[in-house]
Amino acid sequence: MNPLVNPDGPLLGVNIDHVATLRNARGGSFPDPVQLAHEAVQGGADIVTFHLREDRRHIHDADVDRLKQSIGVPLNFESAVTDEMLEIIERVRPEMVCLVPERRQEITTEGGLDVAGQAERVADACSRLARAGCRVSLFIEPGARQIEASARTGAPCVELHTGAWANAVDRGDTVRADMEGVRLREALALAHRLGLQTNAGHGLGLGSTGPVAAMGGVLELHIGHAIVGHALSVGMTQAVRDFKACIRRAIASSSGRPA
Ligand code: PXP
Repeated sequence: MNPLVNPDGPLLGVNIDHVATLRNARGGSFPDPVQLAHEAVQGGADIVTFHLREDRRHIHDADVDRLKQSIGVPLNFESAVTDEMLEIIERVRPEMVCLVPERRQEITTEGGLDVAGQAERVADACSRLARAGCRVSLFIEPGARQIEASARTGAPCVELHTGAWANAVDRGDTVRADMEGVRLREALALAHRLGLQTNAGHGLGLGSTGPVAAMGGVLELHIGHAIVGHALSVGMTQAVRDFKACIRRAIASSSGRPA
């Protein structure tokens, strides 16, 4: 089987950061992101994703340790390329690491990592994390410059930033959505030609998840805000089931198989 393509569609990584955002709003221990991560796994999450930020605005170090001790699916640790974070990752040894850009003032991760502009630093981080046994992915804009630079770092995997596309879909801006859709498809094709496993994420909701899954060749989708938001209405386990159903339906309709 081609390791760059999964005929059953992408795995779902559930990002639990915003459960911690809600907890931290009152400074206590409720709601507990680790408990909600377990509920996400119950609903079918294939991967639990979190971002330990430099300012610890959502996930805290103690959450990471508790996730490592108790979650039975792979953990995907989103991290800035800093010595502090790399040292934490070497101690925790999550199965997966996704290197992301980080700016203190931003509301969420804006734009992809500039791999081309700091190739040596990123390549060093990749080999350090590979030695720690982590599968490394680089969160990048879906453009040729960053994809080609990523392939040269030795990272086996990239995560394409779907934010611009998802925002256009949400706004009903079909012209922009078509344009961004073409950009994503071309990026997927180039990443595959260069032998990179390709994941996608950011900004995806119930309306935009299926179409990305149906593009084919996306191995993992990492989704946070929309799943946590949906969970406020239906509970985390059901929210994850709903997103998984979206992916299944999209794969079924693109392949002609029953959902
Ligand atoms: N992928 C990466 C690399 C991210 O940084 C984030 C946000 O933390 C996500 C996916 C999830 O984005 P969202 O919360 O918009 O679904």
